[in-house]
Amino acid sequence: MSATQTSPAIPTVDLHDLTSPDAAASARAREAIRVGFGTYGLVFVKNHGVPDVSDLYDRFQSFCDKPNEEKEPYNRGDLWYQRGWTPPNTEKAVVASGQPDFKECWFAAPEPLDAALVAQYPEIYCSNIWPEGDAQFAERYNQTGHALHLAGLALLRGAAEALELDRETFALPCTGAAHVFRMLRYLPLTEAQTQQNILWGEEHTDFNLLTLLPGGRFHDPSGKVAKAPDDASGLYLRTRPTAEHPDGQLIRGLAPTGCIVAQVGQMLEILTGGTFLATPHVITAPNTPGWSRLSAAHFVHLHAHERLLPLKPFLNDDTIRSYSPPVLAGTYSIKTLVDIGLAPKSALDKLGYRHYDRLATIREHESAS
Ligand SMILES: [Fe+2]
Repeated sequence: MSATQTSPAIPTVDLHDLTSPDAAASARAREAIRVGFGTYGLVFVKNHGVPDVSDLYDRFQSFCDKPNEEKEPYNRGDLWYQRGWTPPNTEKAVVASGQPDFKECWFAAPEPLDAALVAQYPEIYCSNIWPEGDAQFAERYNQTGHALHLAGLALLRGAAEALELDRETFALPCTGAAHVFRMLRYLPLTEAQTQQNILWGEEHTDFNLLTLLPGGRFHDPSGKVAKAPDDASGLYLRTRPTAEHPDGQLIRGLAPTGCIVAQVGQMLEILTGGTFLATPHVITAPNTPGWSRLSAAHFVHLHAHERLLPLKPFLNDDTIRSYSPPVLAGTYSIKTLVDIGLAPKSALDKLGYRHYDRLATIREHESAS
């Protein structure tokens, strides 16, 4: 992978500035979002209010250390892995063609869900499940997820203002949506795998509205928390193509100390007709075998009934061509979960009418009588 190690000027947004009565400070924060989301698809965020994640990571590591037989009851393929444990080699980051990612995960929803949608989207709007034997896991998990969610909503309000839209344009349609907070453990690689340059997560874009990343940590081959063993591992992102770099540039997304990362997902790209960019990103593994990495991501979603098409100010022939036909956010999620190997293909059969057998039964009765 050819990549530059230096991050060009990825902006940092100070969340305090966003709501500051000082007009110059709030304008600075909005401009940082406009440039960050527009050029890189991502910003660094400081004064984000997200607590230290070490304790939560310790608890997740303890769960991961259990033998697979003990984790298997939390393997909820029937819920499309949207809750509980995702075993290794399940998800494919790259639609349809990728290798499964070398990771295991935990999924839960830290925010209240719209109860009316449970019957319509039973796998996406389902109740949380939690690992037995750690009474504080759920509390810590929800606390961190909630803080990330609040930071996400603040950024979405700033993003709307940066585009001169009503400040609730993106945040309000998130109410009651199936936001998920996910913990990930990238698995240790063997010597042979590191020599093959195997990736921890293949290059992809996130399909939700906005993703918040609190930052990960490495574990050495003995399981101890340690600094990265080499410079090879990390989050890399691809910048917007330009005349000089028609394929964009792969650059390191290393956040300044104390900052979290906020990343644009496909849904925000669609609503803004591509003004904000869902950024392709890839997780590279270290060149040193035996190391693992814990990380976490909170995915802010649109409510399942929201329509996905460019908003009026961004609607023109080009954007209609690029982002048609419009679909509901819930339908979009189902399609994507099938694409990345988490939902079965049969989930797509439920889209559209499926009661043709009723007429067939009536006609059978008629011909029998
Ligand atoms: Fe991602």
